[in-house]
Amino acid sequence: MKDKYRNIYNRHKKILEDLKKHNNFYFKDDNPQISDAEYDKLKKEALNLEKKNPHLKSKRSVEKIIGAPPSNEFKKIKHLRPMLSLSNAFNKENMIDFLKKLKNFLNIKTEKIDLFCEPKIDGISATLIYEKGILNKGLSRGDGITGEDILQNIKTISKLPKIIKGDVPKILEVRCEIYIGKNDFKLIEEDFANPRNAAGGSLRQKDPRETAKIPLKYFAYGFGMIEPMKFKTQLDFLKKISEWGFSINPLSKKINGIEEIEQIHKKIDNLRSSLDYDIDGLVYKVNDLNLQKRLGNTSNSPRWAIAYKFSAEKAVTQIKKITIQVGRTGAITPVAKVEPVTVGGVVVSNATLHNEDEIERKDIREGDVIQIQRAGDVIPQVVSVDTTKRKKESEKFIFPKKCLCGAITKKEVSKNTKKRDAVRRCLRGYDCRFIAKEKLKHVVSKEAFNIDGLGKKVIDQFWELKFIKEPSDIFQLDYNKIKKLEGWGDLSIENLRKAINKSKTVNLDKFIYSIGIRHIGQENAKILSSFFITIKEFSNLFEYKKRENILKNLGELDGIGETQIEAVNNFFNNDKNVLITKNLIDQLKINDHLIINTDGKFSNKKLMFTGGFENMSRSEAKAIAENNGAKVLGSISKKLDILVVGNTKPTKRKINQAKELKIKIITENEWSKILNS
Ligand code: IVH
Repeated sequence: MKDKYRNIYNRHKKILEDLKKHNNFYFKDDNPQISDAEYDKLKKEALNLEKKNPHLKSKRSVEKIIGAPPSNEFKKIKHLRPMLSLSNAFNKENMIDFLKKLKNFLNIKTEKIDLFCEPKIDGISATLIYEKGILNKGLSRGDGITGEDILQNIKTISKLPKIIKGDVPKILEVRCEIYIGKNDFKLIEEDFANPRNAAGGSLRQKDPRETAKIPLKYFAYGFGMIEPMKFKTQLDFLKKISEWGFSINPLSKKINGIEEIEQIHKKIDNLRSSLDYDIDGLVYKVNDLNLQKRLGNTSNSPRWAIAYKFSAEKAVTQIKKITIQVGRTGAITPVAKVEPVTVGGVVVSNATLHNEDEIERKDIREGDVIQIQRAGDVIPQVVSVDTTKRKKESEKFIFPKKCLCGAITKKEVSKNTKKRDAVRRCLRGYDCRFIAKEKLKHVVSKEAFNIDGLGKKVIDQFWELKFIKEPSDIFQLDYNKIKKLEGWGDLSIENLRKAINKSKTVNLDKFIYSIGIRHIGQENAKILSSFFITIKEFSNLFEYKKRENILKNLGELDGIGETQIEAVNNFFNNDKNVLITKNLIDQLKINDHLIINTDGKFSNKKLMFTGGFENMSRSEAKAIAENNGAKVLGSISKKLDILVVGNTKPTKRKINQAKELKIKIITENEWSKILNS
């Protein structure tokens, strides 16, 4: 009998230890080792033992273990409006630049624009949809376009209104940041890497009772869809939702001008450590919602807001060695391997030295005592060298002239500025194995194919094992081989397979961005996608003769200049690039470019703008034209349908060219009339 009890006792103890271990794999390492079902089975067994033998609970109990592997089984729902990110500012100059850009876009000459300032909460973002005042949907951000239905878990937040009464719009979508208070986190800090991780894990529990174990809090900061729209300013909106019972951040404030921005920034940076929640900067938003609407968005972030990050945390350490790293464009970046030091809660052992010129300018040497700083997620930088601590025998660092692959590196001369680049590059593209690996990391990155579970470390591992040599290999992985690797369980393999399969269908612009042509970022990829429309047309670039013709036309696109055209040409002049691109295409289903707003006022028309405009900037005019279905060209050609001539200093030559080609010309006043009609 005694033995039987001992066995039960031991089994119960072992299960609880295992559950804790698997929580660590999930929450701390982000690398689950067993499936949800296996986890649940263990948990059930322990619960049964506790039910039959209540005395077991006196020492340890399943109920006291916080967290369970979050579920992958949430319903996916498309956001009513995309959830974007914010662009960042790190210093006063960046903020002055932001203010200048706002004014330029809106064509405002003198008066200052009111801003609304809020702390940027470092939590998990969610969006709440109230229909006729009733909370009906709660979604995670997901990839910004599609979120996950986590309503039941969100409902466990006590201060979040489930029903709102009063003069509530029919549809009200409130965006918020969910967090765990620093004090509450202290009680559970053994189980999680940080409060943000804990909040994320808690929100993704399958069983809301698990979520309810951890006290979640939130601040509402914005909106998605509101119908009918009744607010005029961000301040109006927050005031009203606060009356309806939402928590809004008490430090939020309307401000105006760069001096006030700097003042409040310093003030809140000083308060920062005393707050019960983590913040990593302040968000500045244009207060007037009408102006926000006019400013609109770029591909990832609104033009009307910016996150001004707090100054980076600094630390002193010593350089052990200077090595080089090769980026996906062949750029050679020097990296200082330093004595490990904690900066802002993270142990740092590498810091970037930017480029050869920077090392020369600061005279940075191996063995030097340096100050480093870390801002956000970016790799830490070397701020300064303490030359007083330098040994006599220290020698100047001689920058290697060769890439890690052995090839000679070069500094290019810019065609536009005729200046020599500060960055050395290896020019071998996929032929350099170091560049090839970085290109793969770009392909799987968030902005490109966005493949969950295939991060940088996994690419390194699969590359070393020769599982992946070029992008198309990602879609032909042998999962049986992966299964044999340590750290890969059934669940993680299944998740990887799902994520890869999902990303096989891709929009043309994402595809163009992913193949990593130099100077073709997300915005340019979109412009090219709207030009080619189909992958078939894009593939004409592979053939020399056809490419020549296409490149001549690319110059007409607003935003595409000589640099980009040359980069496209160089890329496809390389047979290996063409082959690798073709192989990738074979693995994918590439969607045609979606023409949005074909029913706009200028649907399918090609427009060009010349001269300055009185009531708006050229950028705004361009954005309006595109929102109305137009394609905006950068030069006059037969293809152009309308030339819009602004009232200030239009180029005569362009007007004459258009007249010769019998292209319709409209004045700024006529343009305004069409927009208001
Ligand atoms: S405004 C981009 N305000 O930061 C759309 N965002 O980097 C406008 N965040 O996804 C966002 N506090 O999760 C805004 N006061 C605040 C915020 C805030 C935290 C998060 C939010 C967003 C991310 C953007």
